[in-house]
Amino acid sequence: MFRCHLLIVPLLFLSQVRCEVFTALADLQELLNTEAVLIHSLENYIRAEELKIDLLKRYADIYNKQHNKATEDVESYVANPLNAYTLVKRMTTDWQEVESLITTDVSKDYMANISYAKENMKFPTDEDLNGAAAAVIRLQDTYRLDTASLARGELNGVKYSSELTAADCFELGRQSYNNGDFYHTLLWMREADERLSREQNKTVDKGEILEYLAFSTYKEGNINLALDLTNKLLEMVPTHERAKGNKVYYEEEIQKGSYKKKGDDETDDIITNEGVTIVRKYIVLSLQWETVW
Ligand SMILES: *[C@@H]1O[C@H](CO)[C@@H](O)[C@H](O)[C@H]1NC(C)=O
Ligand SMILES: *[C@@H]1O[C@H](CO)[C@@H](O)[C@H](O)[C@H]1NC(C)=O
Repeated sequence: MFRCHLLIVPLLFLSQVRCEVFTALADLQELLNTEAVLIHSLENYIRAEELKIDLLKRYADIYNKQHNKATEDVESYVANPLNAYTLVKRMTTDWQEVESLITTDVSKDYMANISYAKENMKFPTDEDLNGAAAAVIRLQDTYRLDTASLARGELNGVKYSSELTAADCFELGRQSYNNGDFYHTLLWMREADERLSREQNKTVDKGEILEYLAFSTYKEGNINLALDLTNKLLEMVPTHERAKGNKVYYEEEIQKGSYKKKGDDETDDIITNEGVTIVRKYIVLSLQWETVW
């Protein structure tokens, strides 16, 4: 695993971490090389699929023209032996070619190239993603950066990078969630929601944001708001099984008035997952938070 979390650091303490930074920058440079190969493979693959689709379109065109001509005057068409011949040919040998083209898998060669790149070039892991996200969160905390400006790519009022999409913010929230950091999960999920509402081409599903928001809100001690968010999610997706289970749980907890603030007794947390699974054991065993969902 390489340390891409140092990416952000050079902006602020270039001198202190210089040698570490160079290692990280070299790593990132290598990642860009890998990415170039991926893009190249993807573009080649798209071209191959387009070629295949173009060919199929041409077949469809020819079939349509012939067919329309036949249906204009069916009787005289079928009376002509040449037409009879071409009709039968179209539906036998020609059609076999169409079928074989449809079933041709053009993806294999390109996937082979992609797999080669993943195995032989520098390729980031999920751990790297977690590390890079954690570095952003650390930066945010250290400099008390406001989530919205950071999402705009601004550090202390200076624009350093392009804006984050709703999906980028969502992923920062999800990574925080996986680290059991519900405070930052909330900040980034709210920012994701905010950005999503302005996005023309939506980059993430609102239901997923609400789900993380609700559970983190609950973990942060606000069970009433967690219930509101869950209800909102159920308005959008009435059949959402986990949300239904969580709603019942939150309502029961509110009624009992026995809800404990975070940090009290984690083992009391029981959120039904798919109706039956109990979260508690995951918390106790400190397994991946992702398992909860
Ligand atoms: C696979 O990668 C090699 C080397 O970059 C390239 O020459 C070849 O055209 C690629 N093949 C495909 C199917 O993209
Ligand atoms: C949204 O997607 C459409 C179709 O791909 C594209 O033409 C348009 O530019 C996109 N809009 C934005 C704001 O990215």
